[in-house]
Amino acid sequence: MNFLDLSGFVTTFLAVMAALFVFAVGVGVLLITILYFIDITQTQHAIRRNFPVIGRLRYQMEHLGVFFRQYFYAMDREEMPFNRAQRGWVYRAAKNLDNTQPFGSTRDLRPPGTLLFANTAFPALDTAAETVPPLVIGPDCAQPYAAGSFFNISAMSYGAISQSAVRALSNGARLAGCWLNTGEGGLSPYHLAGGADLVFQIGTAKYGVGDGQGGLDETRLREVAAHPQVKLFEIKLSQGAKPGKGGILPATKVTPEIAAIRGIPVGQDSRSPNRHLDIADATALLDFIHRVRTLTGKPTGFKWVIGDPRGLDDLCQAIVRQGLDRAPDFITVDSADGGTGAAPMSLMDYVGLPLQESLPLVVDKLIEYGLRERIRVIASGKLINPGEVAWALCVGADFVNSARGFLFALGCVQSMQCDKNTCPAGITTHNPRLQRGLDPEDKAGRVRHYVENVRHEVAIIAHSCGAADPRQLRREHCRIVLGPGRSASLNELYYRVPVLDQKAA
Ligand SMILES: Cc1cc2nc3c(=O)[nH]c(=O)nc-3n(C[C@H](O)[C@H](O)[C@H](O)COP(=O)(O)O)c2cc1C
Repeated sequence: MNFLDLSGFVTTFLAVMAALFVFAVGVGVLLITILYFIDITQTQHAIRRNFPVIGRLRYQMEHLGVFFRQYFYAMDREEMPFNRAQRGWVYRAAKNLDNTQPFGSTRDLRPPGTLLFANTAFPALDTAAETVPPLVIGPDCAQPYAAGSFFNISAMSYGAISQSAVRALSNGARLAGCWLNTGEGGLSPYHLAGGADLVFQIGTAKYGVGDGQGGLDETRLREVAAHPQVKLFEIKLSQGAKPGKGGILPATKVTPEIAAIRGIPVGQDSRSPNRHLDIADATALLDFIHRVRTLTGKPTGFKWVIGDPRGLDDLCQAIVRQGLDRAPDFITVDSADGGTGAAPMSLMDYVGLPLQESLPLVVDKLIEYGLRERIRVIASGKLINPGEVAWALCVGADFVNSARGFLFALGCVQSMQCDKNTCPAGITTHNPRLQRGLDPEDKAGRVRHYVENVRHEVAIIAHSCGAADPRQLRREHCRIVLGPGRSASLNELYYRVPVLDQKAA
């Protein structure tokens, strides 16, 4: 190619580029003009009417702001529901990485309500027990359950979470020796696949064991109970994020398989009633518990978020009246700030008592009515790091459940999209492209490490307080900051009844 050819080529190229540029600018101007007229003539959005075109940027900024805050601006202890420090601990534990920190704590120890543990001058040696002996639930049942782990996986239904997530959790639970709660969506093949011990939850719609009219289908219940892996039955009265409201599974998540497991129509929102149609008071609850336990031969309890504390007296009085053979084998106390797949904000933000208040109430009421020996207490609600788990054990919980801690172990980045089908970590979505990212085998290992590291660090706290193992943690081992320079032991704070037996024997 000679010089003249080359300059001709360059001239043509520049002319084409200039034409393209003018065309693009023309299209841009035309588009902006169209948007301008749409914005000033529409009447729904005041900002767009007053600031045409530019007002639209607000929506983009609002959306992007979430990511900017999470990644760039929020301090380590600032975010809700879980801050970066809490999440980071779980991520490292799940990957079994070193979880020690340099320089000093970033946790502010001054605000009232802060929990502190009371170390002793002479800790129990770290060679002391780390694992605890199994604790039996429902000792008088035909098939009692000896639960080996004090830290377990809380209810999340197949439907709210993906099949890869359920497979990772069920395999991880088996490896860690803890239980997995099915949630209210019925028993799926993925729950069974991993071989873990399972808690079958009976939600208000009784998915999987219902008769379609709100009642119990005894044949289907017996079929579920026939699986040796199913160890416990949990009747769900309420859940912290939405007390007094049934489950909501958005239509996008109701795939043909999920619809078949639950016995509902495909592709339609699935809403369960806001209470069991056949359980209207404490007596009916005890009757229902007795019926499920008799039919299945397995320990049966219920999950509840405490609101009006007088409900506890009603329940305990009903148990005393009806006799111990009708008592629940366990009560799962869920915190008002618990998690959910989808719930109305008004219930999430305003209804129910947080665990810091409800757990001591439940434990003390059981002691007051002489029921503490008979009924195990399971606590759940933002207990995702060892300090919080140790606190619950100190207050008197026998077991701790977590849901969102395990979501973090599976790779959740708190993108707050559980109610859509768009979870970027493949956990709360049924979109196969997004699920592809979640490898159930790798994540089962993370679930296992997370459980093991929680148990390990709770044992470290216990030893520091002079307790031989986590089950020996008592209220005197934990304190709450009351104000500047002042804290009180949980013992002083919650002392309502003799606390000799905070724990069941
Ligand atoms: C995605 C998701 C689904 C859930 N599904 C159920 C459910 O089916 N039944 C139930 O009782 N609780 C359900 N929960 C609540 C949890 O079991 C748990 O009680 C609550 O999140 C508190 O624990 P956490 O703070 O460790 O998450 C769900 C929570 C999440 C995040």
